[in-house]
Amino acid sequence: MIKITRGTKDILEDEIPTWQWILDSAKNVFTKSNYVEIKTPIFEATELFQRGVGDSTDIVNKEMYTFCVGGADKTATSITLRPENTAGVVRAYIEHNLNRQSPPQKFWYFGPMFRYERPQAGRQRQFHQVGVEVFGCYEPIADAEVISCAVNFLKTLGLDDLTLELNSLGCKNCKNDYRESLKKALKPYLDDLCDDCKMRYEKNPLRILDCKNEDCQKIFMKPDIKDVIYNDYICDDCKSHFSELLGYLDELNIKYKINKLLVRGLDYYTRTVFEIKSESLGAQSALCGGGRYDGLVEMLGGAPTGAIGFAMGVERLYNLVKKIEKEKLDYFIVSNDPKHALVLANKLRLEGKSAEIDYQNRKFIKQLEKASKCAHRAIILGEDEIKGNFYSVKDLNSGVQEKIEDFRDLI
Ligand code: HAM
Repeated sequence: MIKITRGTKDILEDEIPTWQWILDSAKNVFTKSNYVEIKTPIFEATELFQRGVGDSTDIVNKEMYTFCVGGADKTATSITLRPENTAGVVRAYIEHNLNRQSPPQKFWYFGPMFRYERPQAGRQRQFHQVGVEVFGCYEPIADAEVISCAVNFLKTLGLDDLTLELNSLGCKNCKNDYRESLKKALKPYLDDLCDDCKMRYEKNPLRILDCKNEDCQKIFMKPDIKDVIYNDYICDDCKSHFSELLGYLDELNIKYKINKLLVRGLDYYTRTVFEIKSESLGAQSALCGGGRYDGLVEMLGGAPTGAIGFAMGVERLYNLVKKIEKEKLDYFIVSNDPKHALVLANKLRLEGKSAEIDYQNRKFIKQLEKASKCAHRAIILGEDEIKGNFYSVKDLNSGVQEKIEDFRDLI
């Protein structure tokens, strides 16, 4: 027997109503803030992620599903299953000149993402994200609105016992200063850092702060390193951007925690980065991750464009929300006359009612058993009913049965 691939999951009947509810809620909340849906392909040119997400990140270095298509000759193209969707949305934004509409341009999306990570609770190789991206905005009010949109969505799902963590990584100028100061401070400890951090030291030193290795974390607590991390290295413009954002969040009554070690695992971020976490998720506690990426549109060939967004893991949301039961059908038709049953079910369905029939002509008792599991009412269509041109309708909750003569009374 061929089994499901490690790190992937079937989403079966019992789970679908809750998934559907999560997606309907996303659409509802995002549409109210004027977001429009965007659907981009699940695979893109590998280069998009190498340049967009950054080739020093774990995602690009270790986790991409990349393959060549078009033969082994020189015309072969390297494509990658998207590990995230910001790069794809930015590509679409540039390719379709979506900046023609007056800013901000606001998009939301839902879909599968693929990362070759070590599977564990809350971490899959194919998972789903729901997210938003806003373009054409440098103002901190956009950061606040995007964060409030994430918070509102989570509230709609009944989730409010969550922690919002925030940081500012600075702009392209001060971010570099910070990188250099951090490298200088970490240099004496280089030999004590884990192998991953040694590699990050050259390519992406800020990512070192995200390391979960206990020995590395002890190093971050050393006074000389802490000094660099907690020293407000960001420039005055970035400082006032961040403090305006905090002001808006206070106005919106959104609680936050500033976490100077929050650097995020993708290279494109500038200024604001944030995560929303839940203790109940265990080791994989991040439910939502996002931030500003003011340089990405330009880096991928578009005009300089301020932008910000977030994405949430839908499997992680699913694990936290209360589960929705499958809706029962309006009718189950209990009959030993398949033609009449099929025709009646079809008429009901065309009138917008949900209805099911029995394919196997089983005994009425068996059909009624099935009916009471999946429908609110049973329409009994026996010989008497067919001959007499009426329907016996049984309410499967109360057990009350009534005679209905006019089809219109069923709809
Ligand atoms: P990310 O932090 O890599 O950000 O992913 C966002 C969320 O996707 C995570 O917080 C988590 O809930 C979920 N997630 C990530 N990896 C997995 C996995 N292997 N299994 C299950 N869930 C997972 C991004 O992807 C950015 N594109 C977010 C963004 C949008 N930034 C700006 N705009």
